[in-house]
Amino acid sequence: MSLNVKNVDSLSFAGKKALIRVDFNVPLDEHFQVTDDTRIQAAVPTIQKILNDGGSAILMSHLGRPKGGPEDKYSLKHIVSAVEAALGQKISFASDCIGEEAIQKAAQLGAGQVLLLENLRFYKEEEKGDEAFAAKLAQLGDVYVNDAFGTAHRAHASIVGPPKTLPSAMGRLLQKEVEVLGEMRNHPKRPFIAVLGGAKVSDKLGVIEALLSTVDALVIGGGMCFTFLAAKGMPVGSSICELDQVAVCKRLLDGSKPIHLPEDIVGLNAEGNYATFGIRLPEGAKGLDIGPGTAAAFTDVIMDARTVFWNGPMGMFEDPRFAAGTKTVAQAVADTKAFTVVGGGDSAAALAQFGLDDEVDHVSTGGGASLEYLELGDLPGLAALRGAPNVR
Ligand code: 3PG
Repeated sequence: MSLNVKNVDSLSFAGKKALIRVDFNVPLDEHFQVTDDTRIQAAVPTIQKILNDGGSAILMSHLGRPKGGPEDKYSLKHIVSAVEAALGQKISFASDCIGEEAIQKAAQLGAGQVLLLENLRFYKEEEKGDEAFAAKLAQLGDVYVNDAFGTAHRAHASIVGPPKTLPSAMGRLLQKEVEVLGEMRNHPKRPFIAVLGGAKVSDKLGVIEALLSTVDALVIGGGMCFTFLAAKGMPVGSSICELDQVAVCKRLLDGSKPIHLPEDIVGLNAEGNYATFGIRLPEGAKGLDIGPGTAAAFTDVIMDARTVFWNGPMGMFEDPRFAAGTKTVAQAVADTKAFTVVGGGDSAAALAQFGLDDEVDHVSTGGGASLEYLELGDLPGLAALRGAPNVR
């Protein structure tokens, strides 16, 4: 399927101010230092292209989930030095994403210069997709570029608004992400398997249903496996289990595609001590990772595949006692000869924690966005760009 969206090579940036929606929603430590700048680095090729063409860049992003007003801990001022380090140049910062200061600082930008705006979500209008707010953002630039793949599944003002009035294009990151995910979704080399984990099955039902129509097999670990195990009639102790999803899981298990589930579990027994269990959890026991037998079985499935998509940890890997399952799966995804895509969020963090992030073919910068793209084959951010006015 052709994306039918213009990319940055089709816009002329010389002498233009490019309003660029980036996803700089990056993790910060207690001293407000960026602990993982992957998303900042990932936007550099687009920003550099625009600056090299003789344009200037007005960067806008959200950070965290503020409640619709300014909150110091979510200020983008904390990431200015990380952006400067990534770009290798000084940038300016506007302490409000709209209004006089932003207008003035944008107007003063010369070719090759960069301005970062304050957190878009300090206005509740951003998440509401408010048109008047979007128009105020759009007024800052001559052209619009969306390079925020991680947020392209949100129909927020900065994502869907500016393309209504400004010549617009997708940035290099957004383009690469949808090309890789689109190829995997539409033309996977077979066997194509998806390895899914994470806590809640209800968050991922849409993508599970969609994947079941394309994958050759599904591998399920993480907290969500207990709802599937319950659907098979297994006692799950006090593990996380969404009882209202058991019937749906049963229907999925009754379908024609194989769904691989754990055969042993690691967790805490009723007394709160570390324990390994078979597939039937005793009362009071809590499963927190897949067991070693399961990790070996999942490894075999991954090694035999030619395309692997992985999203979601196999257990509570932040706790070293429950990291082995996720680590084994990450190692298999790194070792397999299959084409491997890791779908953002916790699985990308796990890969990085185990030092394996360079060992896979593509680590997506978007968790929710990659799942939604696999499910629907489109995103609000792409649809908005498709409707953008013609290049001036
Ligand atoms: C993400 O981290 O997944 C994106 O930045 C989107 O953030 P959100 O889930 O708060 O919209």
